[in-house]
Amino acid sequence: MDDGQQRMNDSEIRDALARLAKLEQTKSAFISIAAHELKTPLTLVQGYATILGERLHGRPDAEELAGLVAGILRGAQRLGEIIDDMIDVASIEAQSLELNLEPLSLDTLVDLAVKEALSGAPERQVRIYIGELAGLPYIMGDAQRLHQALVKIISNGIKYTPDGGRIDISGRLLYVDGAQSDALVELTIADTGIGIPPEELEWIFEKFYRVGDITLHSTSKSRFKGAGPGLGLTIARGIIEAHGGIIWAESPGYDEVCCPGSTFHVILPLQQGSSPARTRYLVQSGLLRSSGE
Ligand SMILES: Nc1ncnc2c1ncn2[C@@H]1O[C@H](COP(=O)(O)OP(=O)(O)OP(=O)(O)O)[C@@H](O)[C@H]1O
Ligand SMILES: [Mg+2]
Repeated sequence: MDDGQQRMNDSEIRDALARLAKLEQTKSAFISIAAHELKTPLTLVQGYATILGERLHGRPDAEELAGLVAGILRGAQRLGEIIDDMIDVASIEAQSLELNLEPLSLDTLVDLAVKEALSGAPERQVRIYIGELAGLPYIMGDAQRLHQALVKIISNGIKYTPDGGRIDISGRLLYVDGAQSDALVELTIADTGIGIPPEELEWIFEKFYRVGDITLHSTSKSRFKGAGPGLGLTIARGIIEAHGGIIWAESPGYDEVCCPGSTFHVILPLQQGSSPARTRYLVQSGLLRSSGE
């Protein structure tokens, strides 16, 4: 005892940290097991609903029932996507994400990701402007995984921006002064949405973390559905870090009326082999020059 407060000694602190690490591992294992267990009955639901849909032909109420079957299949598909996201989060935490590396054009990557993000929210009226990316060099990366990461970030931009808003995507080459071989690319995705409170900017990348608990946003211009399970940015960060890159967000604050917007920065090394820690060091050290400077 010390001035009335109980303090932990070194070995107690070590024990507590080990227990915390174990707990974190158990949580990851739980997500992985739960996701895989949910997958089997879901496949059954999808299979039976499809058969049901095929057997409706010739019935007088076929059209009405087909609508109900389509509803079951839509729900099952969304559930499947959430389960796949849980499986991805579990493999990111187990550091077992496998990358198939190939030279990639950022121009094409961003273009495809924007198309997919827009097709996932056809009812939303948010415009996306893409800056000049064609001049950027190819990066070594996993096309499917980087596509997935970009879709998650851009979809958020669409989801958390009221109708009539915009998203601007730009890119630039960064290199260590005098050593252009050691280059990185920065992609910036800036929206005119509801923004993020500064104290939560680092938390939004944690699994199942959502700002507030609001699923319906209401701005002066429109009402729109917001938060999902809170896995998108965890997956995006995991994929970017697996490539040796880093991601962070900036926002002046959260305001559904003024919509101050959010900006996401993604930095990826051109060549593989660099770690996120080194990339972070390069970004924070002030050693990087932009190709435009
Ligand atoms: N562009 C953005 N503008 C405002 N808030 C954002 C933006 N992107 C993310 N957020 C906040 O960060 C939280 C976490 O984002 P994330 O993409 O991980 O989860 P989600 O969108 O809620 O669900 P999911 O992506 O799993 O469907 C969101 O719930 C939202 O509160
Ligand atoms: Mg999301």
